[in-house]
Amino acid sequence: MASRRIPGDLATGLLLLFSLISTLSAVRFSPPDNHLIACGASSAADLDDGRAFLPDSGLSPPVLRSHGRQISLSNPSPDAVPLHRNARVFACPSSYAFEIKNKGIHRIRLHFYPFSTPEYDLSSARFHVLASDITLLSYFGTSSPVMKEYFINLNEGKLVISFSPADRSSFAFVNAIEVMSAPKDLILDAGRLVKPDEITEFHGLSKQALETLYRVNIGGPKVTPFNDTLWRTWVSDVEFLKLSSASKVVTYSGRIKYQRYGASREVAPDNVYNTARATSGATVPGSNYSMTWEFPVSSGYKYLVRMHFCDIASLALNQLYFNVYLNGYLAYQDFDLSDSTGQILASPYYVDFVVDVDVLELLSISIGPSNLSNPSWIRGLLNGLEIMKINNTMGSLDGKAPVILVSEDPVGRGFGAFLRSLTCGFAFMSLSVIAFMLFLRWRSESRSLMSWSRLPVDVSNGKLSKDSPVIPGKLVDF
Ligand SMILES: *[C@@H]1O[C@H](CO)[C@@H](O)[C@H](O)[C@H]1NC(C)=O
Ligand SMILES: *[C@@H]1O[C@H](CO)[C@@H](O)[C@H](O)[C@H]1NC(C)=O
Ligand SMILES: *[C@@H]1O[C@H](CO)[C@@H](O)[C@H](O)[C@H]1NC(C)=O
Ligand SMILES: *[C@@H]1O[C@H](CO)[C@@H](O)[C@H](O)[C@H]1NC(C)=O
Repeated sequence: MASRRIPGDLATGLLLLFSLISTLSAVRFSPPDNHLIACGASSAADLDDGRAFLPDSGLSPPVLRSHGRQISLSNPSPDAVPLHRNARVFACPSSYAFEIKNKGIHRIRLHFYPFSTPEYDLSSARFHVLASDITLLSYFGTSSPVMKEYFINLNEGKLVISFSPADRSSFAFVNAIEVMSAPKDLILDAGRLVKPDEITEFHGLSKQALETLYRVNIGGPKVTPFNDTLWRTWVSDVEFLKLSSASKVVTYSGRIKYQRYGASREVAPDNVYNTARATSGATVPGSNYSMTWEFPVSSGYKYLVRMHFCDIASLALNQLYFNVYLNGYLAYQDFDLSDSTGQILASPYYVDFVVDVDVLELLSISIGPSNLSNPSWIRGLLNGLEIMKINNTMGSLDGKAPVILVSEDPVGRGFGAFLRSLTCGFAFMSLSVIAFMLFLRWRSESRSLMSWSRLPVDVSNGKLSKDSPVIPGKLVDF
């Protein structure tokens, strides 16, 4: 412990230097692909975290492809933060096409800040969003600001993100789009697949489309994009911690020892690993758990649960063993953090679990004491938590059915509808092809799934059924 011999002032100085170094290195990752677009804006939007979003019009090569009516709107409130000030509204299916230099996993973010102008109330929009052939959102609408984040493996030199109104009277909007290469080590291919009575391996994680649902700094304050290596936000765990017995918050001011084979600083920043919630091992009466966090999720999907650990609480190596439970299933027995980090304390490590959520609309994550631990030691610890939804077999992250844009025959819907179908006609051709491909996939999958007795007919103009084949050219019109 060399620091013991260093006078106080010097130690503080060194500490400041270390935190300065870690802050500087926090912005070191430079993604090969990095498109930051402020939709509908007429000038660049500069964010507090140092990033600049460029207006979507006038970019070369053009990214916005819209053949129908699309307008640029400005927020009436001049105090709004930069990305809240403008939006682009689409009355017809439209898309953005981004050039992808490096294939592989990319992070896509969509920003939605529904404001209202005399002409449009953005909170009344209803629409679908597709990226490549993955359904990101279906029948989406929001009355409060949301940012949606996805990870998608791209195999082509181009990414097309399409926006399409959910029905003839609706429209789509978006305020900002980010498309960024993910660091190579951010999403690995295998995870621990947790089943009721066994743990196996889940392979092919890097090929799935993922949606980030929760990103939590356990035992610590909110971490903002300014302080994160990849401009992420990590929220406090207070609202998710449901049961806890003798748990306490631990904070660490020393250096987090990132190692070559552990978590990197891009996986999670110092600010996540230097706080944790630890327990002395007392269990909540009637359970084997010392701490339980609960997260609302939708059923019918698999979830990737990434748990971040860094032993900043133990006094010595090999004095921390605990069990991890997901939805009540034993997911990791006698987890030994010293062993995982190659016998180094304060060294970050993470474990990826994959779990099915079938019935309950809830994901619970618990930590309980291991039989190997000694009652005088720390007997459980967690520093950070991320929960991501994995696409279903329909290639969708939102809804059991793929988005299929079906509509009635335009005849008999009046002149307005006819005009609109002319206005939108062009853009629909490309979307129709995607929709048709999705439909074919859905049909082949639903044939192989005997349990699909009830067909997904919650499509707005609900004309779809197994017996009514959809003809590509006629799929959509407004
Ligand atoms: C960044 O982190 C430091 C130390 O953890 C904190 O004092 C500061 O307020 C944070 N800055 C922002 C913008 O969140
Ligand atoms: C605690 O774990 C033991 C063995 O793993 C099990 O038999 C027991 O049912 C569990 N208790 C509760 C309340 O789940
Ligand atoms: C702990 O030990 C008890 C008694 O030896 C055993 O019944 C139980 O299954 C063990 N629990 C765990 C989670 O290892
Ligand atoms: C996600 O979609 C891909 C293809 O788009 C598919 O191969 C994969 O099986 C899907 N994942 C799950 C868990 O169904």
